[in-house]
Amino acid sequence: MKNHINIIIFGPPGAGKGTQSEFLMKEYGLQHISTGDLLRKEKLDETPLGALASRCEKEGKLVDDDIVIGMVKNFITVHKDAPGFLFDGFPRTIPQAIALDKMLNEINQSITRLISLDVPRHLLVERLIKRGETSQRVDDLDINIINNRLDIYMESTLQVQSYYANVNKVSLLNGNQELKQVTFDIDSVMKQFTTPAVA
Ligand code: AP5
Ligand code: MG
Repeated sequence: MKNHINIIIFGPPGAGKGTQSEFLMKEYGLQHISTGDLLRKEKLDETPLGALASRCEKEGKLVDDDIVIGMVKNFITVHKDAPGFLFDGFPRTIPQAIALDKMLNEINQSITRLISLDVPRHLLVERLIKRGETSQRVDDLDINIINNRLDIYMESTLQVQSYYANVNKVSLLNGNQELKQVTFDIDSVMKQFTTPAVA
């Protein structure tokens, strides 16, 4: 059977998950799924789900587990032939992590590694405020929303890292380095599990 590689790129808002996903997609041919991007697309398309996502975005709150899990389930079904998935912004709660393990198990796959990017909180705030000056992201525009996102990460999402640490699947990296150094460190982790798709 083909050896799939499924990675969770993990970390608080502003840690660099999206930025580093670009490298992982290109170098390892992983199918990227960002639940945040999918929700923003729903908002752009003015769907009922988009309206709900928009309300959560304005408060920096999480969208309900059932909704996000359903989105990921559809995505995995549609892309079932992918060489592996790169989960960005998912799972964010323990029920999401349990659901993900179950979904992958149903197709005889599992999470290979959770790669967590660690960045001090005050630098995350700086990064997000700076990005808010040019991005269209509503959740970057207000310090209260940013703080709420960071609090939710500490309260609900960090537990996901412990969940995978319990099965020895976590690599914790310093995300407060030059972009290229972070990429290099991620690549070193990846090389333990696979060889690059592109020479
Ligand atoms: P989501 O889109 O997932 O956003 P997030 O987790 O808040 O994270 P960001 O996308 O802001 O940061 P990032 O880690 O990707 O960093 P980036 O590479 O952009 O979620 C948004 C919302 O959707 C949630 O709040 C929630 O409402 C909802 N949602 C999504 N998933 C959900 C789920 N599973 N369950 C429930 N609700 C969900 O980098 C940030 C900035 O830093 C950029 O400007 C970048 O250029 C810069 N930067 C990156 N790396 C470096 C570096 N090494 N040095 C200096 N600057 C850097
Ligand atoms: Mg992102």
